Amino acid sequence: MRRKLAAGNWKMNGTAATLSELDALQDAATGAAEVLICPPATLIAQAVARAGRIAIGAQDCHSDASGAHTGDVSADMLKDAGATCVILGHSERRADHGETNAQVADKTRAAWGAGLTAIVCVGETLAEREAGQTIDLVRTQLAGSLPDAVSGANTVIAYEPVWAIGTGKVPTTDQIAEVHGFLREALTARFGKDTAGAIRLLYGGSVKASNAAEIFAVADVDGALVGGASLTAADFAPIVNAL
Ligand code: G3H
Repeated sequence: MRRKLAAGNWKMNGTAATLSELDALQDAATGAAEVLICPPATLIAQAVARAGRIAIGAQDCHSDASGAHTGDVSADMLKDAGATCVILGHSERRADHGETNAQVADKTRAAWGAGLTAIVCVGETLAEREAGQTIDLVRTQLAGSLPDAVSGANTVIAYEPVWAIGTGKVPTTDQIAEVHGFLREALTARFGKDTAGAIRLLYGGSVKASNAAEIFAVADVDGALVGGASLTAADFAPIVNAL
C-alpha cells in the first residue's frame, strides 16, 4: 500500500516569518497522508526545528558530496540540516539551469547516498504535448533520470506538465491517467512489479483546493507536488485533507 503524499514546493519564496505556516498546517498533518514542505535551502534547518508532524525537504542538490561548487548545496548538507528528501529535475531547474537527464540521475544517486528520498520530476512542454510527444518525452526523461537502484522508499516520481505549472491550466483527468498509467507501466517493465508498485506517483501543476479531490481520484495518482497553493496553510490544508 502506497502512503499518500502531499508535497509543497515553496520554490524561491519565503523568509523566516513564513515558517509560521508550518504551525498552522499541523492539524492537517494528523491524517494518514504524509505532508512534506520543501522550503528554500536557507530555511531548511529552521523549518526542521518547528516541523512537528510535517516532513521537510529540499528543492535541489549538487551531485558531488563536497568541493569547489560555489553557491551549490550537497545532498549530505541537506541531510545534515534535517531534510528527508529532495526534489530533483524540476522543469524550472531543467529550463533555467539546463539540467539534463544524466545530471538528474547523478543527483539522484547523490541523494540516495546521503539517505534522502529523491522526488524526480518529469513532464512535457505545451509544444511537446501539441506535437503528440508527451509519452515519448516522459519515457526518455524517466529512463534517463532514474539510476538502477530505485526503490519505493528512495524514490517518488512527480509528473508535472510544464504548461500546467503556475498557469491555472490543468490536464483532464484522462490526460493525467494516461501519463500516470504509462509511468507505472514503464517502472514495472524496468524494475519489476513489486518495486514499481511501491513507488509513489505525484501529479503537479496548478493543484488547488477546488480541483484536488478530482485529481486524487485518478488511478495511479498517489498525491501531489504543489507550488503556489502550498505557500499558505489556508490553501494547502484543504489539498492535504482531500487525500
Ligand atoms: O513543484 C511544483 C509545481 O511546479 C507546481 O507548481 O502548483 O504553482 O502550479 P504550481
